[in-house]
Amino acid sequence: MKNVGAKNNKEQMTMFGTYEFPSFEEIIETYSKEFTNYVTPKGDTVFGFWMQTLADLEFLDLELEGLTEEYKIDPVNRKATLKGDIEFIRLRVAHLEKVGGKTTLYTDIVDTFGDTNAYAFHNLYPYKGKFYPRIVRTLINTFELKNNALVLDPFNGSGTATHEASLMGIRSVGMDVTPMGVVLSELKNALLFIDERKLDFHLQDLIDIVQEVENKKWKHHNPVIYKLMLAIYFDTIDAFARTSRYNRKGKTGLFIEKFNYIKNCYKKIMEMKEKYSLKFEPAKIIEKDILELKNMEEFEGKFDAVITSPPYYFSIDYVGKDKIAYDYLGVEMKKVESKYLGMKNNGQLSREYKNFPIRVALYYQDLKKSIENIFWALKPQGKLAIIVGDSTVYSKKIPTTMTTKKFCEEAGFKFKKLIFNPLLGARNRAIRGESIIICEKP
Ligand SMILES: C[S@@+](CC[C@H](N)C(=O)[O-])C[C@H]1O[C@@H](n2cnc3c(N)ncnc32)[C@H](O)[C@@H]1O
Repeated sequence: MKNVGAKNNKEQMTMFGTYEFPSFEEIIETYSKEFTNYVTPKGDTVFGFWMQTLADLEFLDLELEGLTEEYKIDPVNRKATLKGDIEFIRLRVAHLEKVGGKTTLYTDIVDTFGDTNAYAFHNLYPYKGKFYPRIVRTLINTFELKNNALVLDPFNGSGTATHEASLMGIRSVGMDVTPMGVVLSELKNALLFIDERKLDFHLQDLIDIVQEVENKKWKHHNPVIYKLMLAIYFDTIDAFARTSRYNRKGKTGLFIEKFNYIKNCYKKIMEMKEKYSLKFEPAKIIEKDILELKNMEEFEGKFDAVITSPPYYFSIDYVGKDKIAYDYLGVEMKKVESKYLGMKNNGQLSREYKNFPIRVALYYQDLKKSIENIFWALKPQGKLAIIVGDSTVYSKKIPTTMTTKKFCEEAGFKFKKLIFNPLLGARNRAIRGESIIICEKP
């Protein structure tokens, strides 16, 4: 740093012959150049620039355990050394920016979409309580799932797990009890396989579609297009209800903007597919109550891994959030709520829960049964990652994380690891973070 200001010495003499100190900007510029040498990781296998928390480091560790033959992490210089199928690792890894000196597929996706999570169709709709796709990717790598594997998410919501599996070329089954979740998961899946020409609409077509949807006259022979326009419309209405920021664009303007966004996502993800010769795999989406999973005999011992996240007790009004959609589709919300974990008010309680408030007791009873059903659906040595968070209701902590871990062990799982992931910018103050519980079926 000794050269600060010295380089342009001549220009920096004042008219009185006194020495002019370098300006604030010059100092910052010189410092930042110097600083980059220390901070920007250098090397062939460096951390992703998005890695910020200790949990990220733990995820990287897990991921490399699954993806490599040998690895070593150097957290100070933010790089890793590894041995294995470098090309495969480069296409799969979610925490490294470069591998073998080349940009990873994940980094390319992040750069192309400008976001670490809102890529492909993950951002189709703001479904509450969504997974971070990056975590799903990490877990698929951790579990060493190859392209013949089969993954299940029985609380699939808007289909983050199934969509990410499809993008990675892995088959999956997703279930959810809400019709809205099922529509969204199906859409994310179908859009990966649709012909681009099906998304060709003129401006006037789109203006007409908004009118038709509004008047409940919207019809289309292609079910994907039919549902896509509805999903975009529901999102538009919801965005309008939440903020007046969009008033100037008008509903139709916002609808068109959202449609173009999806079309652009299609273009970008297809470019990625082409560039890296990816093979997407379709997901099977089913509307199903997890408590009835065992009715589907064909699923017994069928899955290599389950990656899932049940509702957190009382954290979000998931069903109410989609009221606009349910009113439109004529879905009875009460019926959905009567099957929804954490929303039930009455039912048979077994003795062990007698001292709990009824709603919490029913939630835990259902959660326990859900975990038993997951155990049943997994192959021997099948892997489970279950993401849960504790919530605080009326200043009382609902200890779902440790209860879930206990239920997993009671169901017969071998507990492997728990990673706490702080949700730094979470809007819902009742949730401070979430934990990923990793288990294996013996
Ligand atoms: C935390 S969210 C999962 C969100 C999902 N990971 C995503 O990325 O969209 C929990 C999900 O469990 C679903 N659910 C609640 N009760 C259920 C039940 N009895 N059977 C199946 N799914 C249920 C809810 O509809 C909700 O979508």
